[in-house]
Amino acid sequence: MIARKTAPRSRAKLAPKAAPKTTPRSDDPTVVKVALGARSYDIVIGRGIMASLGARVAALRPSARVAIVTDQNVARLHLGAVAAAFADAGIPASRVLVAGGEGAKSFRGFEEVCEAIIAARVERGDLVVALGGGVIGDLAGFAAAAVRRGLDYVQVPTTLLAQVDSSVGGKTAINSVHGKNLIGAFHQPILVLADTATLDTLPAREFRAGYAEVAKYGLIGDAAFFSWLEANWRDVFSARDASGSVARELAIAVSCRAKAAIVARDERETGERALLNLGHTFGHALEAACGFSDRLLHGEAVAAGMALAFGFSARQRLLQKSEAARAIRHLAEVGLPTRLKNIPGGPPPLEALMELIAQDKKVKRGMLTLILARGIGAAFVASGVEERDVRAFLSEKLAEQ
Ligand code: NAD
Ligand code: GLY
Repeated sequence: MIARKTAPRSRAKLAPKAAPKTTPRSDDPTVVKVALGARSYDIVIGRGIMASLGARVAALRPSARVAIVTDQNVARLHLGAVAAAFADAGIPASRVLVAGGEGAKSFRGFEEVCEAIIAARVERGDLVVALGGGVIGDLAGFAAAAVRRGLDYVQVPTTLLAQVDSSVGGKTAINSVHGKNLIGAFHQPILVLADTATLDTLPAREFRAGYAEVAKYGLIGDAAFFSWLEANWRDVFSARDASGSVARELAIAVSCRAKAAIVARDERETGERALLNLGHTFGHALEAACGFSDRLLHGEAVAAGMALAFGFSARQRLLQKSEAARAIRHLAEVGLPTRLKNIPGGPPPLEALMELIAQDKKVKRGMLTLILARGIGAAFVASGVEERDVRAFLSEKLAEQ
């Protein structure tokens, strides 16, 4: 038996009445507000808006200095433009460079970033700037939450995943030997600036992995957006011409609006925000089994996890098999992994997966809490999932050729 925790009304709030329209391009960036009272902030989305970063920061904190935290890859490609934006606005900026990759979200990485921010004489009233993907956002955000008992910070996300998910909502963290994101804080940024031009330099595999989180918003609560993605994903991926560029910006804006709405209603994940973890229980288990390595990127693991969540929902007769197949087909069509046998290096054994699933969301008396779906755009928190049903389902999936 599966108990539903989330009221249907909260799902309905997520769904727009119509599919997004690719309106003619305007040079004005899109601004999405995250409404959190005194901690509200804007997500500014647009192509070529990096030059406006200094002026936007100066408007928010007129006399602040900044410490820009970034990784080697992003520094090589985008730090020059960011430093120039601050210089043009007369804002003193120091640089903190870390090695990229999930390994940076460690106690050692955290210590290095904190010490570097302190050494740069960043005081209360100054700002940390997280320039990079989700790893840098999570790490620099957590350092900002801790140094001098809390500094304000700005997210400048440069991966698709970070632009649609990790830079928004204030979850910051490093990893523990016991699992991912186990040490962290809720600490909201004061501004998110997503220049979509930075995605031009992102490797195709990283872009695709980030797209899993875009599709996630459609699957969670916005069937019209999912249909729009089915029709327009090629433009979102290519962005070679004006219509592609508009489609990409639109997909990012719709995603940010969906996340901002959920975060505004449930900042600390006491209820509805858990929906954003669709695919994450299965996904985290796969990611952990692959050693949090390049073998399976976070977004790829989420895609495979969402495919499993929809497959399991169909097996539990919560939705039609054809509806689950449609969700999975789209993820596969864009090149994301959806089958266990496609996990690079081979799928993890059943017992290892079950152990990791139990660690991610504690099993209570043989029951699990998972995010399942009654349809595309109709995800819900299912609290009474029998562990043995999950085991039987995964066993079948592992046997598939
Ligand atoms: P990432 O930060 O590791 O970036 C991926 C790679 O792309 C890195 O090698 C990076 O150097 C490179 N890169 C970044 N921007 C680039 C650009 N514009 N051009 C070229 N290369 C670029 O990975 P990610 O997928 O952005 O983030 C994954 C992390 O985000 C995970 O640690 C995950 O736990 C976290 N996350 C956090 C939240 C949250 O709410 N805080 C949500 C989702 C994911
Ligand atoms: N990515 C999950 C959350 O922000 O809640």
